[in-house]
Amino acid sequence: MQLDVFTPIPHAFAWMTEQRPLASVLGTELDLRLFGYRDTTPLRAGQIDDEPYGGGAGMVLRVDVVAAALEAVYDGPPEHRVIALTPQGRQLTQAVVEELAEEEHLTLLSARFEGFDERIVQHLASDAISIGPYVLSGGELPAMVLVDAIARRLPGALAEGSGEHESFSADLEGRLEYPHYTRPPEFSGWKVPEVLLSGHHGRIDDWRRTQSRERTAL
Ligand SMILES: C[S@@+](CC[C@H](N)C(=O)[O-])C[C@H]1O[C@@H](n2cnc3c(N)ncnc32)[C@H](O)[C@@H]1O
Repeated sequence: MQLDVFTPIPHAFAWMTEQRPLASVLGTELDLRLFGYRDTTPLRAGQIDDEPYGGGAGMVLRVDVVAAALEAVYDGPPEHRVIALTPQGRQLTQAVVEELAEEEHLTLLSARFEGFDERIVQHLASDAISIGPYVLSGGELPAMVLVDAIARRLPGALAEGSGEHESFSADLEGRLEYPHYTRPPEFSGWKVPEVLLSGHHGRIDDWRRTQSRERTAL
């Protein structure tokens, strides 16, 4: 997959590229490119935003700046999905992540301050996605959330089997995952459930399915 992120702060992503699961798929299943709007802005002195028409606080990311950035990279309107990250978009769920992980090429647009000139969302983007019903200061964290969630669905990102029984997975019919325990078997009087120490795989599977159902119903 080719994943392109446009942002006012491309260096914010540096730490992420060294961490698994992203590091495991970079250069093989995933090509991640980071583009800064300032590198291609047609305005002077690296300007990328401007005051809102009609007044009000904050600066708005300019449509001509984002159009120039896309043109510089794609040499014309992109044929793949271009996602504007905004709290006003379609809410991100695991189902949306699975859908996006199937794409061959994706572009993520992030903004800061007051956000996008609406014409970016209307005319330059094909989708708008929110990572949750709250407002962050910029689109870098939302972009990182999407990059991480997509990268871990790509082949080779995770150890064999570890992505299959997760919360929201098809294997668990969309339910939450069951609880996990590791050594010691008892700590401060808090015991690991007996069944997990039994070595009886059938009973363990039943217990896990029940736990998964119970915690999803909460
Ligand atoms: C301070 S926010 C702008 C909020 C906007 N004025 C509003 O009230 O809807 C600045 C930028 O951060 C990003 N952002 C903030 N919260 C987000 C969220 N929940 N999901 C996706 N992107 C978000 C978007 O790129 C947004 O344009």
